[in-house]
Amino acid sequence: MRSISTIIFIFLTTAFTNAQQSSCIKCHISSDRVPDTTVAAAYLSADIHNQNGIGCEKCHGGDPTKGFTENDAELAMDPAKGFKPPPDKAGIPEFCARCHSDIEFMKQYNPKLPADQLMLYKTSVHGKLLFEKNDTKVAVCSDCHGAHGVLPSSDSRSKVYHQNAPGTCAACHSQAQYMAGYINKGKPIATDQYDKYSQSVHGVLVLQKGDQSAPACNGCHSNHGATLPSLVSVSAACGECHATNRDFFKSSPHSEPFGKLENPDCEHCHGYHLIQIASDTLLGTSSGALCVGCHEPDSPGYAAAATMRMAIDSLKDAISQAENSTKEAEQKGAEGGQGRFDLGSAKDNLTMVRSVAHTFDPDQVEEITSAGIKTANDVQQKALAALGDIRTRQIGLAVSLLVVIFLAFAIWRKIKQVDKDTDFVVRN
Ligand code: HEC
Ligand code: HEC
Ligand code: HEC
Ligand code: HEC
Ligand code: HEC
Ligand code: HEC
Ligand code: HEC
Ligand code: HEC
Ligand code: HEC
Repeated sequence: MRSISTIIFIFLTTAFTNAQQSSCIKCHISSDRVPDTTVAAAYLSADIHNQNGIGCEKCHGGDPTKGFTENDAELAMDPAKGFKPPPDKAGIPEFCARCHSDIEFMKQYNPKLPADQLMLYKTSVHGKLLFEKNDTKVAVCSDCHGAHGVLPSSDSRSKVYHQNAPGTCAACHSQAQYMAGYINKGKPIATDQYDKYSQSVHGVLVLQKGDQSAPACNGCHSNHGATLPSLVSVSAACGECHATNRDFFKSSPHSEPFGKLENPDCEHCHGYHLIQIASDTLLGTSSGALCVGCHEPDSPGYAAAATMRMAIDSLKDAISQAENSTKEAEQKGAEGGQGRFDLGSAKDNLTMVRSVAHTFDPDQVEEITSAGIKTANDVQQKALAALGDIRTRQIGLAVSLLVVIFLAFAIWRKIKQVDKDTDFVVRN
C-alpha cells in the first residue's frame, strides 16, 4: 500500500513541481540517469529536511540549477560550487551538527528544537568510542535517524518513534556477531537486551500496546547521551518516571548501602531489562521474598519485612471481605454506591502503600494500611447492616405471605363448603 501511495506521491510531486525541482532531484529520481533512485525516493516521500526546503545541495553542496538538461552530472556536482562526496561514517556527527548545533540557524526553522545533540553524543559510549578510538561500529546520527527519509520522532514512520526505537537499537545490540569483542563488566557484552525488554512490563506496554509513557531503550539510556545508568545512578533513570518510589527509596536505610552494590539501587530488586510487575510476594519473609536474601531471622530488617507484609495482607483481606459483602448486598437489592466509592479509597491506600513500602519503614506502612483497613471495615459493617435489614424484611414478607396463603386457603375451604351445600339442594 505504502509503495503505491509513495509512487503516486512521487508522480504528483514530479508532475507538478518539476519546474521548480532541482536538477539533483530530477536526475536522481530518473532510473535512466542514476543506478539507484531509492535515495531521492526516500527523500521525496517523507523527509523533514525536504519539508523544510533543505534541498540535496544544502547537505551535499553543488549547483541545483545545472546539469539535468545538459545531462552532465559534473555541472551540478561541481566541487567549485561546494560539492563534496558524502561523509564517511566517522564524519557524520559533525556533518549533521553543522546545522543542528547552530542555534541561530535552527531557530529560523524550529525555535523549540534543542541544539545539543552533538554535545550529548560526545558524552555517550557511542560518541566516546567513535571520537577517542575511531570505532565506526558504534551508532552515529544516521544509524538512528537515517540520512534520507529522516522524520521527527513524533512520526510513526520514524526510526526513533517510541515504538520503533527498540528495534533500531536492536539492529546492532541483538546481533551477537556484530557485538562480539566488546566487554561489559569483565564479560562479553550481552545481546539479549531486546529479548528481555520485549517481555518486561515496560516492553509489553511500548511494543504491544503503543504506550507512550513507559520507557523505550532511550527512556533509560537517554537519546543522545547513551550510557549505562549505573554510571550516573539507576534510581535517577527510574526516578524520571517513578518519582515517589525514588524519593521514598532515597530516604530509606537502603539508599546508601544499595548505591554500592554491583547491581545498584532499584536494579538490585527489580532487575532492569526484564522488569516484571511487582507483587506482594517480593516483600516479607516467605521463600519468594527479596528481604530474606540479606536479612537474617531475628534481625530488625527481618522483623520489619514480616510486619510490612502482614500489614498489606490485612488490608487486602479487609478489602476483599468488604467487597464480597457489598456485592452480596447489591445482588439482594441494597444500594451499594457509597460503599463502592469508599472501597475505591481503601484500594487507593493499597496502591499507595506498595509505593510507601520503599521507605522500608513499617510505621509509615502501617499508618496507611490501618487507615485503609478502617475504611474497608466501615464499608463491611454497612454492607452487613444492609444485609441484616434485607433479612428482617424478608422474614416479614414470608410471614405476611403465610398469612395470605392461610387466608386464601380458608376462603377456598369456605367456598367449597358453600358449593357442597348448594349441590345438595340442586340434586334434590
Ligand atoms: C545529470 C544527472 C545528475 C545530476 C543533475 C546530479 N547528479 Fe548526483 N549523481 C549522478 C550519478 C550518475 C551519480 C553516481 C551514481 C550514484 O551514486 O548513484 C551521482 C552521485 C551522487 C552522489 C554520491 C557521490 C559519491 O561519491 O558517492 C551524491 C552525494 C550526489 N550525486 C548528489 C547530487 C547533488 C547534491 C546534486 C545537485 C546539486 C546532484 N547529485 C545532481 C547524477 C546526477
Ligand atoms: C540532511 C542532509 C542530506 C540531504 C538533505 C541529502 N543527503 Fe544525501 N547523504 C547524506 C549523508 C549523511 C550521506 C552519507 C551517509 C549515508 O548514506 O548514510 C548521503 C549519501 C548520499 C548518496 C550516496 C549513496 C548513499 O546512499 O549513501 C547519494 C547518491 C546522495 N546522498 C544523494 C542525495 C540526493 C540526490 C539528495 C536530494 C534528493 C540528498 N542526497 C539529500 C545527507 C543528506
Ligand atoms: C543543512 C542543515 C541541516 C543538516 C546538514 C541536517 N539537518 Fe536535520 N534538520 C534541519 C532543519 C532545518 C530541520 C527542521 C527543524 C524542524 O522543523 O523541526 C531538521 C530536522 C531534523 C530532524 C527532526 C527534528 C524534529 O524532531 O523536529 C531530525 C531527526 C534531523 N533533522 C536529523 C538530521 C540528521 C541525522 C542529519 C545528518 C544526517 C541532519 N539532520 C542534517 C537542518 C539540517
Ligand atoms: C543511538 C541513537 C541515536 C543517535 C546516535 C542519534 N540520535 Fe538523535 N535521537 C534519537 C532518539 C531516540 C531521539 C528522540 C526520540 C524521542 O523523542 O522519543 C532523537 C532525537 C533527535 C532530534 C530531535 C530533537 C531532540 O534532541 O530530541 C534531533 C534533531 C536529532 N535527534 C538529531 C541527531 C543528530 C544530529 C545526531 C548526531 C550528532 C543524532 N541525533 C544521533 C536517537 C539517536
Ligand atoms: C550501529 C550500531 C548501534 C546502534 C544502532 C546502537 N548501538 Fe549502542 N552500541 C553499539 C556499539 C558497537 C557499542 C559499544 C559496546 C561496548 O563498548 O560495550 C554500543 C554501546 C552502547 C551502550 C554502552 C554499553 C556498555 O557496555 O558500556 C549503551 C547503553 C547503548 N549502546 C545503548 C544503545 C541504545 C539505547 C540504542 C538505540 C537508541 C543504541 N545503543 C543503538 C552499537 C550500536
Ligand atoms: C527500564 C530501564 C531500561 C530500559 C528500558 C533499557 N535499559 Fe539497558 N540498561 C538499563 C540498566 C539499569 C542497565 C545496567 C547498568 C549497569 O548495571 O551498570 C542497562 C544495561 C544495558 C547495556 C549494557 C549490557 C547489559 O546488558 O548489561 C546495554 C547494551 C543496554 N542496556 C541496551 C539497551 C537496549 C538496546 C534497550 C532496549 C531494547 C535497553 N537497554 C532498555 C536500563 C534499561
Ligand atoms: C519513561 C518512564 C519510565 C522509566 C524511565 C521507568 N519506568 Fe517503570 N514503569 C513505567 C510505566 C508507565 C509503567 C506501567 C504503569 C505503572 O505500573 O506504573 C512502569 C511499570 C514498572 C513496574 C511494574 C509496576 C507494577 O505495577 O508492578 C516496575 C517494577 C517498574 N516500572 C520499575 C522500573 C525501574 C526499576 C526502572 C529503572 C531501571 C523503571 N521502571 C524505569 C514508566 C517508566
Ligand atoms: C529492597 C528491594 C527494593 C528496592 C531497592 C526497590 N524496590 Fe520497588 N518494590 C519492591 C517490593 C518488595 C515491591 C512490591 C511491594 C508490594 O507490592 O507489596 C516493589 C514495588 C515496586 C513498584 C510497583 C508498586 C508501585 O509503586 O507502583 C514499582 C513501580 C517499583 N517498585 C519501583 C522501584 C524503583 C523505581 C526503585 C528505585 C528507586 C525501587 N522500586 C527500589 C522492592 C524494592
Ligand atoms: C541486598 C541486600 C538487602 C536486601 C535484598 C534487603 N535489604 Fe534491608 N538492609 C540492607 C542493608 C545493607 C541495610 C543497612 C543496615 C544493615 O546493615 O542492616 C538494610 C536495612 C534495612 C532496614 C533498617 C533496619 C536495619 O536493619 O538497620 C529495614 C527495615 C530493611 N532493611 C528492610 C528490608 C525489607 C523489608 C526488604 C525486602 C523488601 C529488604 N530490607 C531487603 C540490605 C538488604
